[in-house]
Amino acid sequence: MADDEIDLLDPEAGEGEGFGDEWESIDVSDTEADRIARKRDRKFTQFRERLKDADQFKVEQAVFDDATFAALYKLVQDGYVDAFGGPISTGKEANVYEALGDDRDVAVKIYRINASDFRHMRDYLDGDPRFEGIGSDKGQVVLAWTRKEFANLSRARAAGVRVPEPIAVERNVLVMELVGHADDRARRLAEVQVENPQTAYEVVCEYMRRLHRAGLVHGDLSEYNLIIYEGELVVIDLGQAVTVHHRNADEFLRRDCRNVATFFGRQGLAVDPDDLYESVTEAEPQVGGTLDELDGRDAGRNATE
Ligand SMILES: Nc1ncnc2c1ncn2[C@@H]1O[C@H](COP(=O)(O)OP(=O)(O)OP(=O)(O)O)[C@@H](O)[C@H]1O
Ligand SMILES: [Mg+2]
Repeated sequence: MADDEIDLLDPEAGEGEGFGDEWESIDVSDTEADRIARKRDRKFTQFRERLKDADQFKVEQAVFDDATFAALYKLVQDGYVDAFGGPISTGKEANVYEALGDDRDVAVKIYRINASDFRHMRDYLDGDPRFEGIGSDKGQVVLAWTRKEFANLSRARAAGVRVPEPIAVERNVLVMELVGHADDRARRLAEVQVENPQTAYEVVCEYMRRLHRAGLVHGDLSEYNLIIYEGELVVIDLGQAVTVHHRNADEFLRRDCRNVATFFGRQGLAVDPDDLYESVTEAEPQVGGTLDELDGRDAGRNATE
């Protein structure tokens, strides 16, 4: 492995931090963005009108409410975003835009309060100890959801899983590292020719194991939420990830295993979802376990393309 390459499976990552049971409580009280939206001073109003006129936001005029524009305004004021670029994706619940951050390109994920399938979100939030006491207000649920994605990204990253670095969260807007570049984007695993499926599979398996040891289950893992850039696999879309204490955590993990096994099965590997599940949930290996083995094989890099 060359010096400048990122070691996907850093054996030191996540060690000694006592993952598993801890959880951070999440505050959903009134945000600065809400106050900005209420006050509607001249500068905010100008900002909002400018953004509404910008080509890439035109379609969203009816969708983004004032509080969302206020969240974007706050992120600009705080220096996390300097300029907004084009849309990367318009999903069921969120729009992702590329943007110019402080010193690099960033991805801005905006959850649409109105479009959000509120009941679906509740299913994931209820039973997660981090979200006890979240009321039934739709805005609060979406806000909790966005904070949850930020917290999940932080926790996954600390556990040595390659995810976009979370940068800032404001209300229903999440700013994170853009994987790849504005003019050369990362692609979904589903869109690329996987040239070394065995290695790619082992990397995904190790990520799932690390997530699990960090007390998390992704809950929507598939070739659509794994992106790849320069041979490096990155796990995205952790909004729905739950802690292992969630009553449906096991069901979600089994589904993740099935999705991953099916995808790699199509790539010609014989992967049994139950074996994958066992390997993800098995107790931490003693000295010299799977990480060392994988490390020796230069896993992760050049897995595809
Ligand atoms: N940090 C990032 N860097 C580069 N591309 C990203 C990043 N985050 C998201 N994307 C792109 O945007 C798409 C949508 O992101 P994500 O899956 O997080 O949102 P989503 O609303 O859940 O979308 P969907 O409903 O399609 O699953 C991804 O498939 C990916 O192509
Ligand atoms: Mg997705």
